[in-house]
Amino acid sequence: MKKIAVFTSGGDAPGMNACIRAVVRTCMYHDVECVGILKGYDGLINGSFVPLDGKSVSNIIQKGGTFLKSARSMAFRTPEGRKKAYENVIKEGIDGIVAIGGNGTFTGATLFHEEYNFPIIGVPGTIDNDLYGTDFTIGYDTAVNTALEAIDKIRDTADAHDRIFFVEVMGRDTGYIAVRSAIGGGAEMAIMPEKKVHVKEVIEKLEYGHEHTRSSHLIIVAEGEMEGKAVEIAKKVKKALPELDSKVTTLGHIQRGGSPTASDRVLASRLGIGAVEGLLEGKTNVMVGVINRNVVYTALEDTITKKKPINKDLINMIEILSGRKPN
Ligand code: F6P
Repeated sequence: MKKIAVFTSGGDAPGMNACIRAVVRTCMYHDVECVGILKGYDGLINGSFVPLDGKSVSNIIQKGGTFLKSARSMAFRTPEGRKKAYENVIKEGIDGIVAIGGNGTFTGATLFHEEYNFPIIGVPGTIDNDLYGTDFTIGYDTAVNTALEAIDKIRDTADAHDRIFFVEVMGRDTGYIAVRSAIGGGAEMAIMPEKKVHVKEVIEKLEYGHEHTRSSHLIIVAEGEMEGKAVEIAKKVKKALPELDSKVTTLGHIQRGGSPTASDRVLASRLGIGAVEGLLEGKTNVMVGVINRNVVYTALEDTITKKKPINKDLINMIEILSGRKPN
């Protein structure tokens, strides 16, 4: 393998730059040429390649976003798009690809591998942490810490006014960000797809909590929650408990930005090295991850079809720490 390409795709995640840097530096270490692809799969289709040397990745380990840019490509979903991408890869003399992204990225990579049997390794880069085959994804730790910083501030004003705050965090289909930020932020409840909570139960808990344990309330809502977004849940609560003043804060995309935490930088660097070394060892159609502190490779297909459930102990912790006795 003489030339490896790297791109970032899907929603950006803090630590993607650190990962690109690791890919480039590992290529240098093994005397392999490295090229960047701009804007994910779209760049592959349009032939947007940039040579990457050691210097091109200086001073980026601490930066959020991705200097290779990112996109959710519609064109790559079509066989014509993937054909164009393959033609460009061959024309550019690329021998292997490192694809940094989430499940949309890996769905594309699986199709590309199936159709063209081209060496490709995925690196889990998404704040959602919803990929099977790794304990943590790049960006998750930073996103949780960003949410936490905001939650701490909201707590101050919630307390000053004796209010209920519903704080909506990201996580398209999962409550990974919700569960950690709820525990770390001392929230009394987290509403997320992994644990069914009916609004009726929320109301009962708030009534009890208001009477017995506290005068202000913090409830974290994962955006993918089936009962509705934070705004809808808050509306129903307001109707049932008009005497309590409730507010909603949607944290949104601030969770995607910012300088990556130490954990994310180390994880991103480790996975970047693992991706290049995996390709050099002949591994393909897999994602590199870290499970129980060891680097592991998991079939891309499994990363998108298998579920990584949230540890139930974490979910139970929120209930125990809420200060309510079980019914
Ligand atoms: O996949 C990461 C993520 O931030 C999700 O948590 C969120 O639902 C989605 O991306 C938002 O995507 P976009 O930035 O395209 O609106």
